[in-house]
Amino acid sequence: MSRSDNDLERYFQRNQGRQIHKWVHYFDVYERHFQRFRGKPITVVEFGVQYGGSMQMWQDYFGPDARFVGVDIDPRCRAWADDRTTIMIGDQADRGFLAEVAEVAGTIDVIIEDGGHYPAQQIATFEELYPRMSPDGVFLIEDLLTSYKPKYDGGLGRDGTFMEYAKALTDRLNAFHSVEPGLVVDDFTRTTRSMHFYDSIVVFERGPVSAPRTQKTGLASWNPADHAAWEAEQARAGAPLRRRVRAMVPLPVRDAVRAARRNVRRQVRRLRKRLSGPR
Ligand SMILES: C[S@@+](CC[C@H](N)C(=O)[O-])C[C@H]1O[C@@H](n2cnc3c(N)ncnc32)[C@H](O)[C@@H]1O
Repeated sequence: MSRSDNDLERYFQRNQGRQIHKWVHYFDVYERHFQRFRGKPITVVEFGVQYGGSMQMWQDYFGPDARFVGVDIDPRCRAWADDRTTIMIGDQADRGFLAEVAEVAGTIDVIIEDGGHYPAQQIATFEELYPRMSPDGVFLIEDLLTSYKPKYDGGLGRDGTFMEYAKALTDRLNAFHSVEPGLVVDDFTRTTRSMHFYDSIVVFERGPVSAPRTQKTGLASWNPADHAAWEAEQARAGAPLRRRVRAMVPLPVRDAVRAARRNVRRQVRRLRKRLSGPR
């Protein structure tokens, strides 16, 4: 997608109002996963409101029918409440507070998690709110570069980071195929259509998932002659009914029918001539 096609990025680059702080490559990811919600009467929850600029950007992007809940630990963010935006002040690591957020928000369609960036906050937010989202909702968590930063309790492969947590969830996406008791189909398996990994972002797309089924089509043969014969048979079977019926009629019968039709046409022409001649 070129820059000019991305409304969010255009908005961001032209922003002269409240501050928005984003890694520039996020805009393609937003567009890819959020586009289908634009103009719809949805509920969007943003963790990490700060100066309110990103909330304004989401309002502009999702349109006038969307309602918003902004969550931040900083009470100054209350300033950004308006008639369609509720601001809730609290610690996103506190599961009791997250239950209140869920209560106030109701069914959530989109979550943008850009809060404190510590693993305990990220995991609590995901665990408390993800199961309560709409069946086709999208949970996007950003700034996961922090999973690699010691300052944020991160490090490569370090237990407890959100990246390690998300990697483990990829197994649960595949739980239908597991033969081990340690990996069984659960709510996450049944409600998550896909997970998407980008630089510093993981996106969870919800959707009802039932046991996958396998199917085979085409001919299982390495012999090209088998394939040629099979394709001819398929073409015959796929031809219109009239052609198929005609193919079943023996050639002499077809010739006789053709001759009879020619004869009838000739007779008709003669009759027409006689009728249209001088009276
Ligand atoms: C990176 S800023 C948000 C930036 C904003 N979304 C933007 O795009 O410009 C992170 C915000 O998370 C808030 N925050 C930090 N710790 C938090 C916590 N434990 N619970 C909720 N919010 C928290 C901070 O107060 C800050 O406003």
